[in-house]
Formats: sequence, C-alpha cells, structure tokens
Amino acid sequence: MSTKPEASDVTAPTSSRESSETLTITDNRTGSTYEVPITDGAIRSLDLRQIKVDEDDFGLLAYDPAFMNTASCRSTITFLDGDLGVLEYRGYPIEQLAEQSTYLEVAYLLVHGELPTKAQLDDWTHQIKMHTFVHENVKSFIQGFRHDAHPMGMLLGAVGALSTFYPDANKIHDAENRQLQTVRLIAKMPTLAAFSYRHNMGQPYVYPDNDLDYAGNFLGMLYKMTELKYQPDPRLERALDILFILHADHEQNCSTSAVRAIGSSLVDPYSAIAGGVAALYGPSHGGANEEVVRMLLRIGTKDNIPDFIEGVKAGRERLMGFGHRVYKNYDPRARIIKKACDDVFEVTGVNPLLSIATELEKIALGEEYFVSRRLYPNVDFYSGLIYQALGLPASMFPVMFAIGRTSGWIAQWLEMVQDPEQKIARPLQIYTGERRRAYLPLDSRS
Ligand code: SDX
Repeated sequence: MSTKPEASDVTAPTSSRESSETLTITDNRTGSTYEVPITDGAIRSLDLRQIKVDEDDFGLLAYDPAFMNTASCRSTITFLDGDLGVLEYRGYPIEQLAEQSTYLEVAYLLVHGELPTKAQLDDWTHQIKMHTFVHENVKSFIQGFRHDAHPMGMLLGAVGALSTFYPDANKIHDAENRQLQTVRLIAKMPTLAAFSYRHNMGQPYVYPDNDLDYAGNFLGMLYKMTELKYQPDPRLERALDILFILHADHEQNCSTSAVRAIGSSLVDPYSAIAGGVAALYGPSHGGANEEVVRMLLRIGTKDNIPDFIEGVKAGRERLMGFGHRVYKNYDPRARIIKKACDDVFEVTGVNPLLSIATELEKIALGEEYFVSRRLYPNVDFYSGLIYQALGLPASMFPVMFAIGRTSGWIAQWLEMVQDPEQKIARPLQIYTGERRRAYLPLDSRS
C-alpha cells in the first residue's frame, strides 16, 4: 500500500500543523511521554528506541512479522491504492499504459522516471536489441539441467550465472555500468526464459531475431521451428506485450523486497535479481498463476465449483489467484487481463477453462467468506489462461511473470542503490529462546 503525501502535506507546515504532525506516546511503565514526528503518514521506527525503562534498556522495537505495516523505503516508481484498486507507474494509470504504451516504453519509464521521446525510445530499443544474445556457455549451463527441470529453477540459476559472465557488474556505484547491466537484464531475460522452455521441449535453442519487437522476438525464440523467418501473430504479440506491461512493477512486493534486501549488500544486480526470481517462484507470489490453472483443471467442471468453494471455506483449499496483501478491491490488472483473453482467444480459440474461471469468480464474489475477507481476483487469476492458450505449459507461467517484472526489479534496485537513506538491510528480532545453557557432554544427554 503506498502512502503518498497529500498536496497539503507538502506545503510548508504552519506552526499548528507542525505541532500536530507528531505522535505523543506515554510509556505507562515509566510515566514518561515522548513526541515522535509523523512524516508522510509514518513514524520512524528508530524514534521508538528512545523509549526505555532504564539506561540498560535497548529501547522499544516495532514488531511486524511479514512487514504487514512497515514501509521499507521511499519510492517514486509505483503507486498503489489497495482500497480503490489503483495502480500507477511513475504516476501514469496502468489502464492508460496497457492501452497506449509498449513494454519497452514502460520499462524505460520505470527505469528513467519519464516517458521517452521518440529518439530516446529508438535508442533504448536499439540498445536492448543489441544485448539479447547470451554467452554460448550459458547454453551448456542450461543443458546441465534435467530435461524436466522446472523452468523457474533454470531461470533462477541462469540469471545468477550471468553475474559470472559480467564480473564488472559489481561496480554498482558507476552510473554507466548500472545502465549497461540494466539493458542487459531486460534484453536477456526473454532469451534465458525461451532457452529454458526449449530445453524442456528437447528442441534446439532459437537465437534472438532483432527484426522482431520484444514480445514477437520472445514468441519466435519459443516457437520457431524449420521456417526461415518466424512471423508472430500481431494479436498474440500485442496481448503478450500488454501482459509484460501489467507485470512490470508492483512496489514493495515479496520479490522486489528480496531484490532490494540482497542488493543492499552491494552485490551485483544479476545476483540480486536471481533472488527476485527465487521469491517470485513461490505459489503465494508469482507461482500462483501456475497453481490457478492446476486448480481449474482439478475442479474440471462448473458442477464441481460448489464443493470446491466449500473446501476453501473449510480451509482445505486456497482459491489461487484470489486475495492480495494490498488490493482489498478488484486488482486492476486482473480486469485488463480478462479483457485481453478475448483478443487472444479470437486467434487461439477459447480456453475451455475460462468458463470455469468466470463461474468460480462469480460464485466466490457472492460468498460471505470472500466478501468479508475482501478477496478478489488478482493478477494471477486469468493470466495463466492466456499463457495456456499461447501453448505454454503451466510451469512456464511464473517465468512469463519474471520477464515482465525484470524492468520493475531493476528500477527498484537502481532506486535503492542511489538512495542515501538506504544501507545494508538487517532487521532485528525478538529472542524467545533459551539463555546461557551449560554444555552437556554427549554421554550425559538423554
Ligand atoms: C502476487 O504483493 C504483490 O504486489 C504481489 C503481486 C505482484 O504484482 O508482485 O501482486 C503478485 O503475488 C499476487 C498474489 C498471488 N497469490 C495467490 O493468488 C495465492 C492465493 N492468495 C493468498 O495466498 C493470499 O491472498 C496472499 C498471499 C496473496 C495474500 O496473503 P495475506 O495478505 O497474508 O492474507 P492472509 O493469508 O493473511 O489471508 C487473510 C485471510 C485468511 O483467512 P483467516 O485466517 O482470516 O480466516 O484471507 C484468507 C486467509 O485464509 N485468504 C484466502 C485466500 N487468500 C487469503 N482464503 C482462500 N483463498 C485465498 N486465495
């Protein structure tokens, strides 16, 4: 959830507002009171450390497992309003970007903060196209995986391995170097993803075709066979480009927080983003789109939906693709993806699972269990239906998410590296274990 200072907050606070922009805390253990400043709707947790019972006291901590109510950074990249279902990249509503922009233009916007001029976009596109190849050794690296290795596991390994091909990438305080690695990561992610797919299929790798646009080139690396030139269907290419836009960034989600935390140790961006791929792999996060399709296949027919919903309400199942830590309203991306389904199915034929998914959504949104918990479809509920219609296996769905999210991860990494307030991420803990125990020799232990 983003808290954005209202216009009134950013003007010079009057003396009365200055005094009111504080929290008065009374520590009932000591009777002492403290004035803690409130800025942009937050207090600094470190301001709590002054609250002590005596001089030996470490001071008060804020305990927040899973960071349910903790802002880890100040950011200008993505704004979310979970109650209103609002998503903006650099202030531009996601609906406008999905409708009028392209993924590479959005990637530029996320990384540079402004929409590019034509010259800037042409140069950016050229740079990306000049970096789509990977070192030939990467192919043998991917060949080392089992034929049925999960492609997210292969992507995770391959992205991390890129750090060994570009040892200079650890010069993270060099702006030019950061930009080179930014371009390389956005350019090479589709190539690594496609190589992982082709490895699973037992098919030869297809090299990038720089005559094609970003999404079309990716489709070519997935599906080109003996034809001399792969010709992507423009409707599928556009639908895929929109999906990459919708997945590009989402403020401090699990995988982005992982990228920021790993990057805070000043490691290179490939290693940090490999950590992002690892976090995204999980079924509670980017792996949910794969689980949605497996869930729909398991439900099988509309007649089985009531029993499945009962299983969810009884806690035996999770309705995958539903619910969100921030959105307590319809995820705006899910709405756009649902619309994109129609464009794709016009080419591929309707995915038979669509009717089960829409019926499941309709029934769930009428059930008190979901309404009371404000559980709505999220970005993963419908996206898998499109990927499946494009001919991809469910295991490739989180890989598709990772391709889009790469520009967001790198934009967030760039912001973190240049943020003077940031340093190595190292949370504290509340220790609840034993203390000062005497060592027991082996033969004295029962
Ligand atoms: C993404 O953070 C981001 O921005 C992520 C993302 C991005 O772009 O980066 O948007 C992408 O990861 C989307 C989420 C994909 N995951 C899923 O679809 C998996 C299913 N959803 C859930 O596991 C869950 O909703 C989460 C993980 C998404 C959110 O979990 P929270 O915020 O920790 O909520 P919770 O688990 O505490 O749930 C609150 C209540 C619980 O019930 P009670 O204990 O109060 O009785 O809601 C229930 C949960 O059991 N609940 C669900 C449910 N999601 C929450 N019950 C059934 N089915 C679900 N999907």
